[in-house]
Amino acid sequence: MKCDLIVGIQWGDEGKGKIVDLMAQNYDVVCRYQGGHNAGHTIVVGDKTLALHLIPSGVLNPNAINIIGNGVVISPEALIEEMQQFGGLVGRLFISDKAHMILEYHILIDQARERLRGAKAIGTTGRGIGPAYGSKIERSGHRIGELRDTQKLAHSLVEYFETYKAIFEAMDIKIPNFDEMKSTLDVYAKALSPYIEDTTSLVWKSLDEEKRVLLEGAQGTLLDIDHGTYPFVTSSSTISAGACIGLGLSPKDIGNVTGIVKAYCTRVGNGPFPTEDLGNDGKILGKNGHEFGTTTGRPRRCGWFDAVAVKYASRINGCDQLSLMKLDVLDGFDKVKICTAYEIEGKRVETLPQSLENIKPIYEEFDGWNGSRGVDKYEDLPQNAKDYVKKIEEVTGTKVGLISTGPDRSETIIL
Ligand code: GDP
Ligand code: IMO
Ligand code: MG
Repeated sequence: MKCDLIVGIQWGDEGKGKIVDLMAQNYDVVCRYQGGHNAGHTIVVGDKTLALHLIPSGVLNPNAINIIGNGVVISPEALIEEMQQFGGLVGRLFISDKAHMILEYHILIDQARERLRGAKAIGTTGRGIGPAYGSKIERSGHRIGELRDTQKLAHSLVEYFETYKAIFEAMDIKIPNFDEMKSTLDVYAKALSPYIEDTTSLVWKSLDEEKRVLLEGAQGTLLDIDHGTYPFVTSSSTISAGACIGLGLSPKDIGNVTGIVKAYCTRVGNGPFPTEDLGNDGKILGKNGHEFGTTTGRPRRCGWFDAVAVKYASRINGCDQLSLMKLDVLDGFDKVKICTAYEIEGKRVETLPQSLENIKPIYEEFDGWNGSRGVDKYEDLPQNAKDYVKKIEEVTGTKVGLISTGPDRSETIIL
């Protein structure tokens, strides 16, 4: 058996949560492989809305088990809080003993660094993501499995704080003493112990037993640490390849890849965004799409569909198809636009350059439409909306397998 994979194609918030929830009904295992509680995945079922940050979006399928892989950085505090809204996840949620922890000091460092960066701030979610991955890479991090011996872990942390005392003081960060650290870790250990597992073996076993496994990406391709708009990115490998590292899979374990993409484009946080519309159209997209961050509540920057970036993202992830989300948000525009190339220093460019600064988007314009909201059959879409979808397939070189016309499960067209 191979795993199927869902990945964000733009700057996150494409609607991954809706699709994973929808697809999870047909899977036995749903796994997160990177990111942390910077993610915010909204799921709407009838009149209920759920925001998930760390727990995989398959949690609403009572028959599926959910895995938080080693590539995820876990704030035990955030996870414990999120778990409280679901009664009894024992046996349905497994946390990799190899996943690194986000502790209070990572969050404080993240926020202090953002303050110190001033006008050059990345606009992080302030959840400690960068410092936690930093600790992992520089080999001073701590893994969830270490909660099995909180005495030893508290000693190790206090020793680390002592060594770097001057740096913590310079950032105005209060460091905990041994007793404080130990009692915090004991709370985490008590709450999380029943869920800590060798998830690498668990995923392998699931595949050996022919279970259907779905992998859920967080963030999006343009926020990838290597392939995104560095340094205005998150600190993990958000692309499909990240799933191998973040779960202990081989590339041969990955089967079908679905890229999740909005019918327009948004970004939250700072950094270049070639198709951003700072005028009225951007405002309308934000208003109609309710574009406010699920995690931080910040307004998202809005603009037109960037086919150059999507084509790049589709190739890098190996997308078999795209799920085209929020088509309904384009209802009511006289004209809609797709950026099919960039102008850089007077030259036409159709590939994604290393830097997205100082780019002029070259647009193609199309007639708009009305009435796509809630449509669940392709035949019922307005002709101009159908033409827009066809154009997206043409310019990105990737077929569209699903069109989403509203947040609810039922507001979906499967092609
Ligand atoms: P994720 O981070 O990729 O899971 O996406 P978010 O949940 O952060 O943001 C997507 C938002 O769009 C959520 O509020 C969804 O409920 C909503 N949404 C998803 N699909 C559609 C759609 O087709 N139309 C509309 N209008 N909203 C949608
Ligand atoms: P989901 O999974 C959108 C952005 C932040 C910031 C940058 C770095 O819901 O799509 P970080 O806190 O990760 O160090 O911030 O990444 N960012 C997201 N933007 N959706 C997300 O997740 C994001 N997670 C991080 O806004 O620009
Ligand atoms: Mg989100």
